[in-house]
Amino acid sequence: MDNSSSNSLRSSSGPLKKQIEAQRLQSQSPQTKNLPAFYRNVEEALDARRATQSLFSILQNNWQTSRAVDFCSNDYLSWNTTGLIRTAFLAELGAHPGFSVAAGGSRVMEGNYAYIEDVEREIAEWHGTKAGLIVNSAFDANVMVWSALPRPGDVIVYDNLVHASTHEGMERSLAIQKTGFDHNDTKAFRRTLSSILESSPMVKQGRRSILVAVESVYSMEGDVCPLLELLEIADELSEGLGNIQFVVDETHSAGLFGPDGAGLVCELGLEKDIAVRLHTYSKAMGACGGIILGNDTIKSALVNFARASIYSASPSLPFVAAIRAGHKLLGTPEAREAKRIQQLARTFFESLTSHPLWPKARESGILAVPLASGWKERPFLTHIVTVWTRQNYLYWMLFHFLFASFFVLPVKHPVVPIGESRLRVTFHAENTVEQVEGFVQQLFVWVQEVVDIEEGKSQHKATGAAREVYAWMKKEGLTGYGMV
Ligand SMILES: Cc1ncc(COP(=O)(O)O)c(C=O)c1O
Repeated sequence: MDNSSSNSLRSSSGPLKKQIEAQRLQSQSPQTKNLPAFYRNVEEALDARRATQSLFSILQNNWQTSRAVDFCSNDYLSWNTTGLIRTAFLAELGAHPGFSVAAGGSRVMEGNYAYIEDVEREIAEWHGTKAGLIVNSAFDANVMVWSALPRPGDVIVYDNLVHASTHEGMERSLAIQKTGFDHNDTKAFRRTLSSILESSPMVKQGRRSILVAVESVYSMEGDVCPLLELLEIADELSEGLGNIQFVVDETHSAGLFGPDGAGLVCELGLEKDIAVRLHTYSKAMGACGGIILGNDTIKSALVNFARASIYSASPSLPFVAAIRAGHKLLGTPEAREAKRIQQLARTFFESLTSHPLWPKARESGILAVPLASGWKERPFLTHIVTVWTRQNYLYWMLFHFLFASFFVLPVKHPVVPIGESRLRVTFHAENTVEQVEGFVQQLFVWVQEVVDIEEGKSQHKATGAAREVYAWMKKEGLTGYGMV
């Protein structure tokens, strides 16, 4: 174990303890009672989060400040860890010494400039499409797409696990109907489309359209969209009218899938079949911002109907330079690390499923790794895996990994439904095979502790790291986090 990280975790000013302390209820405290009514009411709302230990806090990240293993950040290609993107960014900026720090307006009101247009053209061409619109984030991109593109009377069909930003956009859309289908379920997709076509003559005749929302890789599951199959179903049912179109959010495949990281759509050769693609630069590509890719009609509709194009400042040159720097890196040999990540994922599944405790852990329900089933047959192994245990053990498992210096992310409500909390583990180009094997080894050290407790072979009621956290919590008068 790396002492610097475990000490900082264990210290009372460490992020873990700060996070736990932040869950102390506030609305009934004497300080809060003396606040003006408005603030008291807000604290009451925050208390609803605290009561379920789901209040978020903005804290120092241990994986950035210690030598702990990063199995949680978005820096999938490790361009920030290695400094590759920084060097490329500075070189790109250096090539434009007279740059303006601000764009000076919204895209349609004095905020346009030649550089952003060049980069958009370059990226769109590289992705095999006509036009691109660079925006401040993929979150914004989804809000823009879904609030702007569906016309009155159109219908949105979405995979039930699409990102919060798609829901945010859909809420603002003019679509007459929004219908979800079971995650990655092609039969459910067919049923949903058929029932809409049956009940909506306007759609069936092609006077209105269906827009389909999917993601190439699902961020909280780590699985891949069966895009080709969905597209075939849509083609068959639309009978050549072109009234069923797809929007593919490539946030978690950008930089990782396809030729030089161009994404799943390019990997499958579907550039001409997908109406809209969204890429982010805030994950594997090591920067910030997003791009919406489509044809000129799509771009024009976004510029005119998405309020952010009109009422929010255009991304500035330094912001766009970081994006271009990443794009230039994608084709270089030192940046072709996506394959390494696949290898790490393979190591993970191999070590997991060959461990002698795996069958018992799985059958007893102590452990579940949904992506472990059929992993050898899948053409893509992604950089995201989720590890599940019984809900009351989630924090025991989290504390164990944190104390063993593996930083993983607990995913809880409101990000996922209540009762579906899990640990999310992400692999990065700079992670090593030894780290992945060490992680699996720790996983089974923890499983063994749980087995011993459940079978009455241990005198303890909780696993070691959990006992340490609970001893401190009890001293501080804190509860929750699966405390026994
Ligand atoms: C599927 C998906 N779309 C969009 C976003 C938003 O990305 P950004 O960080 O660029 O706003 C995320 C962020 O996690 C995501 O997972």
